[in-house]
Amino acid sequence: MSAYRRLLVIVAVVAVPAVCAAAPNPDVENGRKAFTTMCGVCHAVQESGGPTEGPSLLGLVGRAAASEPGFPLYTKALKASGLTWSAEALDKFLVNPSAMAPGTAMPMQIQDDKTRADVVAYLATLKR
Ligand code: HEC
Repeated sequence: MSAYRRLLVIVAVVAVPAVCAAAPNPDVENGRKAFTTMCGVCHAVQESGGPTEGPSLLGLVGRAAASEPGFPLYTKALKASGLTWSAEALDKFLVNPSAMAPGTAMPMQIQDDKTRADVVAYLATLKR
């Protein structure tokens, strides 16, 4: 093997895991499990029935914050937030909802970056 080829192999071996660590593929199934444990007690993810402590999260990604018509208990804080639920906005919100919408009644935080990315990926599958 030439020195150049050896160098290419080394670059490939070192660079590939580095790229993966920077942009992990979200694991939707892990996100679903984490959601069931941490969020499912308050949020419905189906068309009818389910918990009512929080708003249904069906069709969440792409819609405005505090816009679920079946949920009467939104705080003024969330209504006035002006947020739209993109994946990026959700990722930021879920680190600490009160930091992004002070006064919100949404209590749950996901500190772990990987778990949060997985939950956001799962939320994106909840289409109407
Ligand atoms: C103890 C009940 C409870 C738990 C557990 C909970 N939430 Fe919430 N969530 C709420 C309430 C109540 C609101 C409405 C907040 C407001 O109006 O300020 C809310 C709002 C939200 C919103 C904004 C929805 C909208 O219509 O704008 C998102 C997104 C959300 N929660 C995601 C989650 C996720 C993800 C988890 C799990 C990590 C979770 N919640 C856990 C009660 C809960």
